[in-house]
Amino acid sequence: SAADRSAASDHAPDYPSSLVGTSVVTLDDISTSQIRELLHRAQYIDAHRKTVAHTCDGRVLATLFYEPSTRTRLSFETAMLRLGGQVIGFAGAQLSSVSKGESIADTLKTVSNYVDVVAIRHPKEGAALVASRAASVPVINAGDGGHMHPTQTLADLATLQSRFGRVQDLTVGLCGDLTFGRTVHSLIETLCRFGHVNFVLISPDELKTPQYVLDRINATETCSYVEVSDLAGSIGDLDVLYMTRVQKERFFNEDDYLRLRDTYILDADKMRLAKPDMAVLHPLPRVNEIAVEVDDDPRAAYFEQVKNGMLMRMALESAVIGDKLPGYEPLQQE
Ligand code: CP
Repeated sequence: SAADRSAASDHAPDYPSSLVGTSVVTLDDISTSQIRELLHRAQYIDAHRKTVAHTCDGRVLATLFYEPSTRTRLSFETAMLRLGGQVIGFAGAQLSSVSKGESIADTLKTVSNYVDVVAIRHPKEGAALVASRAASVPVINAGDGGHMHPTQTLADLATLQSRFGRVQDLTVGLCGDLTFGRTVHSLIETLCRFGHVNFVLISPDELKTPQYVLDRINATETCSYVEVSDLAGSIGDLDVLYMTRVQKERFFNEDDYLRLRDTYILDADKMRLAKPDMAVLHPLPRVNEIAVEVDDDPRAAYFEQVKNGMLMRMALESAVIGDKLPGYEPLQQE
């Protein structure tokens, strides 16, 4: 039964025990060795899909999405279904009691009675933190406004690991909306924890990286950054190009959005200036910033990121619940 399995998994040696019951609002909530363990866990899941198919039998995930999503919500849900669990939730708060004025805290206190883990996306920065404090089950931030998107970063790290065999000693260009891009903020902050990374921050003046993120780079002894506005002039230096969408929903003024939205378009001509093994990442959705012709270039890694997002969410959901993956051996770390 689920109760038996839960009791057994209290003593299971195959996951980082301190992750059990952990809410992940930012990746600062978990250690770098736990992140490495999650990467290893996701690789195991990918190679043993049938073996892990009943890991979360009897478990329930809630997806509370107050903001649109395709990849994040569907991959959180698919992850739980592929582990044998079930899913409840809403995609758009208008059909929930949120439309009657119910607070995030009351919603989480309620939903905690129904489920084992919650994934929440909300347009306001800090909403996931409020949710995690109100809930009695682990809460995973699926994106809070322009702040953080930790599980996207886990997908990004898995993609770098598979392309380069490492997540450090890289020159990483981030291009587009670096002001509101929560995936950019999460990724920079996390890469700063893994060692040497040179960041090339490519944006128009109006969409530069927030100071609190730059401070994080400055606080390391191993990472550095330059801020530039020219993609063609810097692409040749990059190991990784992380493109982002200019996010219409974060602008107060439509004229500003229209002026800035097509500042950077990655196409086959620009790819000819790039290293032969550069990896192009994008959290998706894209609008115009990567021409469709780039999709067939072997350096395009953005649909690999999508797959890795599901695998990393399988790894994380089962780890915070504390369910044992059959046959799994943890990563040996010093
Ligand atoms: N990458 C990402 O967050 O995509 P969705 O908005 O479709 O979830």
